[in-house]
Amino acid sequence: ALVSMKEMLNKGLKEGYAVGQFNINNLEWTQAILGAAQEEQSPVILGVSEGAARYMGGFTVVTSIVKSLIEEMKITVPVAIHLDHGSSFEKCKAAIDAGFTSVMIDASHSPFEENVKTTQQVVAYAHERGVSVEAELGTVGGQEDDVVADGVIYADPQECKELVERTGIDCLAPALGSVHGPYKGEPNLGFKEMEEICQTIKLPLVLHGGTGIPTADIKKSISLGTAKINVNTENQIAFTKVAREILTSDSEVYDPRKFLAPGREAIKQTVQGKMREFGSSNKA
Ligand code: G3H
Ligand code: ZN
Repeated sequence: ALVSMKEMLNKGLKEGYAVGQFNINNLEWTQAILGAAQEEQSPVILGVSEGAARYMGGFTVVTSIVKSLIEEMKITVPVAIHLDHGSSFEKCKAAIDAGFTSVMIDASHSPFEENVKTTQQVVAYAHERGVSVEAELGTVGGQEDDVVADGVIYADPQECKELVERTGIDCLAPALGSVHGPYKGEPNLGFKEMEEICQTIKLPLVLHGGTGIPTADIKKSISLGTAKINVNTENQIAFTKVAREILTSDSEVYDPRKFLAPGREAIKQTVQGKMREFGSSNKA
């Protein structure tokens, strides 16, 4: 069933597990992730970046594909379609109008007061329609589609408290050392701040840049209040590795399904592994 993130994340926070946000790029990605969730009996968040929505042909194409697959694949676990790193009120509104059940407004690059204002505007529009809202403070490193950072800035716990109080968001992504894309060396997550922020705001925290974070750090993050973990690059790597193996070992291949289907299976396996790691299996 299509739902917002609110209940699945609050339940995760209370029971000590995290729900994965897995980014989708096309039909195969969506099939793989929904199939994994159903098999694991896990709630799931389908993340859609603005770049991915453009690639797929627009927000309404995304919601049509997701809704059709939920029906055809007989998906019964809770599914949220979530705009990842929404860049403006207008983009969030367009996603909501197209049927997204959740949005992230990422005004983390703006001055604090502006971040608060934009987030308030999004929350007003979203909550009236039963749509959940994630906001961000600080800077996640690395790059994902249109979201580029040259450094990592840790979120300030005092600003987190104020943002939550003034906006009424459902969950918060405080940047605490994580990076989009592969890490250069070991990640250095701010666990002290993570604990402090969750204790203060009493909302589920979101960890961006889930690819390449060691299991021990994942478990620790969950124990400190992280209830949503975003994974994108790891699925891209899994798909491309399999596709590349097939294409390099057989120069006669011309039917794309010969590498799309095994690539899709690799994504499914990767997602099922993450769901077990995050503890969301059998929590649907
Ligand atoms: O917003 C999406 C994520 O934060 C994904 O990060 O590509 O490093 O897994 P990742
Ligand atoms: Zn992210």
